[in-house]
Amino acid sequence: MRLGTIAIHGAHPESHKVPGSPVVFPIYQTSNFYLGEHEYESILHEKAHEINMYTRLGNPTCRNAAEKFAALHGAESAELFASGMGAVAATLLTFLSAGDSIVTSLDNYGGTVTLLNSELVRLGIEVINVEPNNLQQIRQAIKPNTKVLFFETITNPLLKIPNIPEIVKIGKNCGLKVIIDNTFATACNFRPLQHGADLVLESSTKYLGGHSDCVGGFVAGSKELMQKVWHTAVYFGVSADPFAAFLVERGMKTLPLRIERHNQNAMLLANFLAEHKAISKLIFPGLATHADHTVAKQLLQGFGGMISFVVKGGNAAGLKLIEKLRFPVEATSLGGVESLIEMPFNTSHAVLTQEQQEKVGIVPGFVRLSVGIEDIDDLLNDFKQALALLK
Ligand SMILES: Cc1ncc(COP(=O)(O)O)c(C=O)c1O
Repeated sequence: MRLGTIAIHGAHPESHKVPGSPVVFPIYQTSNFYLGEHEYESILHEKAHEINMYTRLGNPTCRNAAEKFAALHGAESAELFASGMGAVAATLLTFLSAGDSIVTSLDNYGGTVTLLNSELVRLGIEVINVEPNNLQQIRQAIKPNTKVLFFETITNPLLKIPNIPEIVKIGKNCGLKVIIDNTFATACNFRPLQHGADLVLESSTKYLGGHSDCVGGFVAGSKELMQKVWHTAVYFGVSADPFAAFLVERGMKTLPLRIERHNQNAMLLANFLAEHKAISKLIFPGLATHADHTVAKQLLQGFGGMISFVVKGGNAAGLKLIEKLRFPVEATSLGGVESLIEMPFNTSHAVLTQEQQEKVGIVPGFVRLSVGIEDIDDLLNDFKQALALLK
């Protein structure tokens, strides 16, 4: 099956062919399940994750969504957790202990940066930061205590594209786990497991749910690794809620359609903004001017829906642009059907001084845009009118 079919029918379409059964997988809104002989046997043989016993350990609605995610990535197994951060935390805590180190990107998502540099460091884990698109730096950063390489497919908000197949080779040579946060790409634009990564995770709050109405996070990989991640997640208590799982699974049905449109709209808007005289810099991996364009073209099916740009006139001009736009919603997060716009200086990077912000590339006037799936002519006209008001 192709992704467009898996997204709708899941991994086992024929299993639903039972007369009288619902077309849509229902919400098992229950915290616990009747126990019988099979359940007691499973508990005894440490297979509690495979049965219906207690929703923190497993629930059919959550399992149904996770199986679809696994199928999209060609994985043996997957789990859905309470949030993207729940997925990141459970995964990293599974493979890192006090005294170990992790080599990771300088510009991960802000929540992940805090988890790494504050929580994991507090637990005695060393965090080594590198430029995600500098393979030599990654190679040199690995130490005898390194256990994990962790990278995002497309970084936030600078949209750098690490060469994941090459990172996988480095990791395999050193016996490390390679874990990829694929939130910005989704399986439609990149499938890390097909390039040898050990685990892929995504915040389903973004493109998978796709409607800015639910929070969650998936992890997928081999059965053996996922059993370990499941164990950590269950005891740290980041299991998913069945209602959120229902919404995510429903959203996933239109994922390939939406991603196709996000890709198209972002490409057209990026081309328009790149030429506009009110914009001093545009960052989009689909444009030849992007530093990692060659890698992006080689690896990605599509360049995604995220665009970053710098407005002439600094932060005041950026804020004015946002105020004058009719359609993009001034809000954090990304991957919704509606365009979402924000400035990192007063959101994700607000705790940094201006000097620190500039050091990581957040110069005055830096805007991050999650391009939605609105009609592209309306988006283009909206940006035209709002940019014209900046003079
Ligand atoms: C790349 C990336 N990973 C993880 C997360 C965390 O996801 P959540 O907000 O669902 O916890 C985010 C959230 O923005 C993200 O952008």
